[in-house]
Amino acid sequence: MPIRMVQMARMIQPIQLVRLSVAWCVIAVAGPAAWAQSHTAAVRPDASFANASVEGRVDALLDRMTLDEKVGQLVLYSNGAPTGPGTGRTDYHDMVRRGEIGGLFNLTTAKEINEFQRLAVKESRLHIPILFGLDVIHGFRTTFPVPLGLASTWNPTLVEEAARVAGHESAAAGVRWTFSPMVDIARDARWGRMIEGAGEDPYLGEQMARAYVRGYQGKDLAAPGSIAACVKHFVGYGAAEGGRDYNTTEISEHTLRQFYLPPFKAAVDEGAASLMSAFSSLNAVPTSANSFTLNQVLRKEWKFRGLVTSDWTSIAELMAHGIANDGATAARRALTAGVEMDMESNLYHLHLAQMVKGGQVPVAVVDEAVRRVLRVKFALGLFDHPLVEEDKEASAMLLPASRELARKAAEESFVLLKNDAVPGYAQLLPLSSPLGKIALIGPLADDAGNMLGSWAGQGRAEDAITLRTALTKQLGADRVLYASGGSIIASSDAEIASAVAAANLADVVVLAVGEDAGSMTAEAGSRAHLDLPGRQEQLLEAVAATGKPVVMVLFSGRPLTLPWAFAHVPAVLEAWFPGLEAGPALVQTLFGEVQPSGRLVVSWPRSVGQEPLYYNALNTGRPALNADLTHPPTDGLEKYLSRYIDEPNSPQFPFGFGLTYSAIQYGDPHLSDSRLSAGKLKTLLSENATSSKSAATATVSAEITNTGAKPADEVVQLYVRLEGTSTAQPVRALKGFQKIHLAPGETRRVSFDLGADTFALWDDQNHYTVEPARVTLWIAPDSAHGNSTRLMLEP
Ligand code: NOJ
Repeated sequence: MPIRMVQMARMIQPIQLVRLSVAWCVIAVAGPAAWAQSHTAAVRPDASFANASVEGRVDALLDRMTLDEKVGQLVLYSNGAPTGPGTGRTDYHDMVRRGEIGGLFNLTTAKEINEFQRLAVKESRLHIPILFGLDVIHGFRTTFPVPLGLASTWNPTLVEEAARVAGHESAAAGVRWTFSPMVDIARDARWGRMIEGAGEDPYLGEQMARAYVRGYQGKDLAAPGSIAACVKHFVGYGAAEGGRDYNTTEISEHTLRQFYLPPFKAAVDEGAASLMSAFSSLNAVPTSANSFTLNQVLRKEWKFRGLVTSDWTSIAELMAHGIANDGATAARRALTAGVEMDMESNLYHLHLAQMVKGGQVPVAVVDEAVRRVLRVKFALGLFDHPLVEEDKEASAMLLPASRELARKAAEESFVLLKNDAVPGYAQLLPLSSPLGKIALIGPLADDAGNMLGSWAGQGRAEDAITLRTALTKQLGADRVLYASGGSIIASSDAEIASAVAAANLADVVVLAVGEDAGSMTAEAGSRAHLDLPGRQEQLLEAVAATGKPVVMVLFSGRPLTLPWAFAHVPAVLEAWFPGLEAGPALVQTLFGEVQPSGRLVVSWPRSVGQEPLYYNALNTGRPALNADLTHPPTDGLEKYLSRYIDEPNSPQFPFGFGLTYSAIQYGDPHLSDSRLSAGKLKTLLSENATSSKSAATATVSAEITNTGAKPADEVVQLYVRLEGTSTAQPVRALKGFQKIHLAPGETRRVSFDLGADTFALWDDQNHYTVEPARVTLWIAPDSAHGNSTRLMLEP
């Protein structure tokens, strides 16, 4: 559990009396009727927040609460020792009895949870149940691939199913609130938290955000297996300058709206119960006190009625950011901006009641915050069924069907980056049966803990199956020559020498290398160098020097810059961190029993200096499209372009990329209409303002053929470019995708609906609209290839 080392001493300072503005207060008390009216198109009809009986119960309870009890509902603490640098408290039992705690997290068993819940519902004056939260990020007990891997499946249905399993297991343990999904757009591989999200694209991010919310929350939040999602980190956290965690972000309103906000909006439209504000500052206003994003965008424009929690001590960190000189001011700024729960800072607990009494915070603001917390608790059914059945907990965990789903998810998450011919093989992968011995080399070949990934919840290393275990089961011990080659961070000459010796005795080498999930990825896991840690590059080159064909299986939470490997190793499979079924999923894939069908959700850099690197960039006034960038410029024509003099602009592998074991051919795209009215589309868009999907106005289709000898799963991608618009639009933007299965020789026509949302953009006045434009459309295997066609959006 990451814990920020913030000194409490700096937080608890005398209250400063600060005058309040009225604007936020008006927004804060906006009533439920407005919500129901304007949100009907967006919220699923069964979303429990829209339930009038819940509103009645919330108001009735609120009427009976004292000020201290109200503040208590806004307090969120982490269980465990130390109880966090933020709180410095251990007396949670007594606080619960007094009604001073609204939520607790990091309790993981039904027994512990019931113990606290009994205190709350039996011994506190108003019997208000506690909301129990946890970071259930890629599974609870059944550990799925890390979120970057799950997104690489390009299979939202599968992600929804995985989230459903995670929800069922969590709920069985009494955890009804997960701090997931993380929907931060990540354009910079240096940022360790890239591993926790769905990558760089807003459209894919929207689909994944919706899938997680549907999976966790189900159709009915009050159903026993449903848990509330907490969508994080609102907003822009992934744009940390230099990829350094917790760092400043500067994002124009245009870019915020067009790229960073859409996945959050999609999650809210899907009915997400809660959001988490971020650590970072956005355009000089920390997101945990940012009235523009929280009050204006989230509450006012999106009509969000669930709750917002701060991130861990992010309210106290407002002081370090420099926008509050004491804890009371930090608390006031966060609450009035729209942060309802204080995670670990302890500042609401210390200061809010006094500030209400002193007139610095209107009680209406506190009431609105409490209403939001209670609304979530009622929607979850916690008032009616506060306790969890302890005897049913164990039997909900790690069911055979859940393991099976984890294996399928792992298989679909692998991205085949390279698969060249070597002597004796037309393509090195899949490995074929006459094969004799395999040298299985590398520090990640038999590392169960790392297979679980960066945030494995209650996943246990003993449940994870490594590549070594699975390969040995498949081939028999005498055909697998294993050598670790050292650890992730250090290898001795002797360890490298024995790995080389193993390679020399084998027909093929499978080399399992990469990062350490725990220390090198996720929170506080930013890296300035994106190469293989330790001496793994030397290990790789020494093993490759044997001349034996090498399959490199890369375990990482981000793309790594490995120019030598990509030039010299014939086959490379990116495995991310696959979860507890890592070994079986990899063996199935390496031997071709399943097809690799993952695709990159982030652009893969050639070198760190290219970061931030993302496909949906603007063209610039001096694009280097037709220039040869593989050598330094030789004249002015080559030089005065938007380029590096020492590296191509292009990625090593583009967003959307991934090979199959077969060969796929894309036919020319065919449009049902090559002229559409921008005005009509604009009207359609405003009629569906809160819905992410508008009705089709035309279609584009193409024939996709499997020309190879093996079956293939292909991710067919639709990209769009708009030119002639009021704001510059990306050189390509993903607008649709379909994952299809093709038997050898099979052809299928894949068709995409083009709706107003396909052509919508944020204009120069920050309005969401459709403008006249020249449109290029691609139906493509990735963001850098494919055949295109043209369409005109006429005035
Ligand atoms: C800090 C992380 O930033 C956030 O993602 C997480 O949910 C909280 N800690 C709670 O553990």
